[in-house]
Amino acid sequence: MADVVVVGAGVIGLATAWHLAGDGADVAVLDAGPLGGQSSRAAAGILGPLAESRDDGPRTRLFWDSWVAFPDWVDALREDSAIDPEFEPTGILRQVAAAEREDLKVSLAWRRQYSPEVEWLDDADPDWPAAIWSPHEGQIRGPAYVAALAQADAARGVDIRLGEPARRIRVDQSQVVAVDTPRQSVPTSTAVLAAGAWAGGLLPHAEPLPVLPVRGQALALKAARPPFPHVVFGPAGYLAPKRDGQVVVGATEDAAAGFDARVTFAGIAALADVVRSMSPELLPLPFDGAWAGLRPATPDGRPLLGPWPGIGGLIIAAGHYRNGLLLSPITAHIVRALVRGETPAVDLTPFRPDRFHRTH
Ligand code: GLY
Repeated sequence: MADVVVVGAGVIGLATAWHLAGDGADVAVLDAGPLGGQSSRAAAGILGPLAESRDDGPRTRLFWDSWVAFPDWVDALREDSAIDPEFEPTGILRQVAAAEREDLKVSLAWRRQYSPEVEWLDDADPDWPAAIWSPHEGQIRGPAYVAALAQADAARGVDIRLGEPARRIRVDQSQVVAVDTPRQSVPTSTAVLAAGAWAGGLLPHAEPLPVLPVRGQALALKAARPPFPHVVFGPAGYLAPKRDGQVVVGATEDAAAGFDARVTFAGIAALADVVRSMSPELLPLPFDGAWAGLRPATPDGRPLLGPWPGIGGLIIAAGHYRNGLLLSPITAHIVRALVRGETPAVDLTPFRPDRFHRTH
């Protein structure tokens, strides 16, 4: 029995469980395991609300609101978990290629609405004649963030059950009554569907949610110390220097791979090209591993957030694609408000989980 069952132990599920448990709710998290096993593990930890946005739409606003929540969020997390997730609000440099110069110059206007200090740099680097410097963005360390959330969950009494994949959200008379795994049934009146690329098939009595896996591959190099103090973005990827000198290079997007989460040689070759084009002086560094995860994509690139209409107690928090870490605080705030029967601070209309079903 649990007040709330969260389906999925990625950063969205773990963050949501932690926040709900802070209200005294009895929360269980179900997952096949391991913790943060797919998209969360693939993440380089970029917190780039502007760097990862193309326009000033509702997604960018959601990114920004979540980014703004990070400092307090991380302080509380450190306190509950005694793990430092290496939150680094040190800015992001965006290299500008000739072909995107005019578009990115025009984009300065909306970027500055969020962060007036965003600057256009000419002659920033001999290889990159133009760049955008955005001081109010940053990064976190993905694996440490997952570990901190899990530890903080444990500190608040969240019951994380790995090896227990949810198979069915059971509904009786239009109300959630339990979540079933192959081995157990957990009675509850509230289920939060945060199963990333697996969320699609778990919707009761409806067509699947349109969340599809897109494989993301990344690799790491190991320097003696960080080669630069901030994340660098380029047209084809990014370089994220971590405190211990690891440099994470990301990321591929392989939609055709389906649920295959293996690293491929083509993926490594593409990431080597990212390094070659962005910062060739890093090429001699030792290789420090490569990994892949399945990112949950939606047709319009926006996550699915909100109550599922017609079923009491079913809340969807899925489809965060490449921005689950960034969106974890705001998603937890939204789900907590919904569980408490309050109106979330964010207008959820652009993120309604049934928006694709309704247009059918
Ligand atoms: N947000 C970082 C990535 O998509 O790889």
